[in-house]
Amino acid sequence: MSSNDGVNAGRRRFLVAATSVVGAAGAVGAAVPFVGSWFPSAKAKAAGAPVKVNISKIEPGQQMIAEWRGQPVFIVHRTPEILSNLAKIEDRLSDPNSKESTQPTYVDPKNRAIKPELLLLIGICTHLGCSPTFRPEVAPADLGADWVGGYFCPCHGSHYDLAGRVYKSQPAPLNLPVPPHSYESDTIIVIGVDTEKA
Ligand code: FES
Repeated sequence: MSSNDGVNAGRRRFLVAATSVVGAAGAVGAAVPFVGSWFPSAKAKAAGAPVKVNISKIEPGQQMIAEWRGQPVFIVHRTPEILSNLAKIEDRLSDPNSKESTQPTYVDPKNRAIKPELLLLIGICTHLGCSPTFRPEVAPADLGADWVGGYFCPCHGSHYDLAGRVYKSQPAPLNLPVPPHSYESDTIIVIGVDTEKA
């Protein structure tokens, strides 16, 4: 399999997963906030235009998924507990200060956000392009007693924390990228446009 095949396979898995989430949310009464606001036209989105997202309905500890340039963008409302856990696991991470990873210079290198409580990540595994699964629970049976919440990639088992930082000795070599973004207001984020014109 070429790396392109991997990316395309990951993209397909994202689409399947997204469809599944919509179906599941419908079945249980939209328990999980999904895609927020799609302001650009389909033509503009296809051209890679910035995407505005209303983040006001993301509950603390929850994630919504937007789309920018055909990629899933994870948007997480982090709680004070999540933020305090980030510092506790740094010795288990491959690149805790994100020196090798892709993110705008204006995000904090450790929590990887402009406002600590709101994290944005490109939701594509840095190994072969699958879409990691959001696993915010603490110590679930399948991820172990020392799991403090993060992302698990189902394709080859890479683990990331809730700043998108990859653990040591994983198939994935790098932290999940942070896309360029800026705040239009307290509740509207613009993905693809930032103060550095990235
Ligand atoms: S694609 Fe291989 S671990 Fe994510």
